[in-house]
Amino acid sequence: MVSPVGIGTWAWGDKLFWGYGDRYGAAEVEAAFQAAVAAGITFFDTAEVYGMGESERLLGQFCKSVSSPVQIATKFGPLPWRFTKSSVRASLDRLQVETIDLYQVHWPFSFLLGQETLFEALAECVQKGWIRAVGVSNYSADQMQKAHDSLARFGVPLAVNQVRYSLVTRQIEKQGLLARSRQLGVTILAYSPLAQGLLTGKYTLDSPPQGARSFDTRFSAKGLAKLTPVLHTLGQCAEAHDKTLSQVALNWLMNQEGVIPIPGAKNAMQAQENAGAMGWSLTPQELETLDRVSRPWME
Ligand SMILES: NC(=O)c1ccc[n+]([C@@H]2O[C@H](COP(=O)([O-])OP(=O)(O)OC[C@H]3O[C@@H](n4cnc5c(N)ncnc54)[C@H](OP(=O)(O)O)[C@@H]3O)[C@@H](O)[C@H]2O)c1
Repeated sequence: MVSPVGIGTWAWGDKLFWGYGDRYGAAEVEAAFQAAVAAGITFFDTAEVYGMGESERLLGQFCKSVSSPVQIATKFGPLPWRFTKSSVRASLDRLQVETIDLYQVHWPFSFLLGQETLFEALAECVQKGWIRAVGVSNYSADQMQKAHDSLARFGVPLAVNQVRYSLVTRQIEKQGLLARSRQLGVTILAYSPLAQGLLTGKYTLDSPPQGARSFDTRFSAKGLAKLTPVLHTLGQCAEAHDKTLSQVALNWLMNQEGVIPIPGAKNAMQAQENAGAMGWSLTPQELETLDRVSRPWME
């Protein structure tokens, strides 16, 4: 059981994509953590690769400062020359915990390392008490089914599949991944739920994002023009509920059965705003309108 919205911590310590250390740093991300917890978010997603371990280290450190329970999800890269068990131990050390609540396979890399062997090793880590639940990430419907079946042999359920999902990345619906996850009882953790800031409405041609996103065509004149109907509808819903565009975009995801969004937050304001997606709901009619205007993004 986790809060209906989690916080993604890729940007905590990551210089290359997000520019950690330039426009924000440790103080800002610590404030994001504290604001999220104060607003009722108890679930945080990280990965061993984020900031080359720095995201896990920061999260572990911040968790020590709160008395309320926090659930941590992390991910590891299943490269054949690495041993799954030593990766788990390294994450446990960085996070300073005895058990990781959710341990996810970051991507379905199976070269030289059979999925059966991988899931057997993960099931053993559950039995040892090092991890509480097992998840995958970026797995297709069939890959997820196989992971589910492999784990079932050891009596371990597949808890989540973490995939890209937002109003402007709806491919998982068309590909049948969402339907299959519901059949299997696997929760979808929706990553990049704000389309990396696009759905906040703050990025325009005059005010483009800096860094890696400036090369992303979704932030170009053509990309932004295509987005206009979605931003317009988000704006109408936001006004009707006295919420922001980000909160509406996240609430749409929360209304999809079996989906938990994990928006990133670099500072207290963003964390607090994203937490404000909880505690209210869009109406069935608003959900239908958002569904209609975002249909082009199923392709
Ligand atoms: N499994 C995977 O392969 C994978 C891949 C990607 C992400 N993830 C996970 O998913 C999490 C979220 O995805 P994401 O970080 O790619 O994208 P996202 O959540 O869609 O966007 C996050 C970015 O949007 C901006 N933002 C967030 N909240 C805002 C608010 N309330 N107001 C204004 N701006 C706001 C911030 O950047 P600016 O302020 O710079 O605009 C923030 O870094 C990651 O942290 C990570 O945990 C997993």
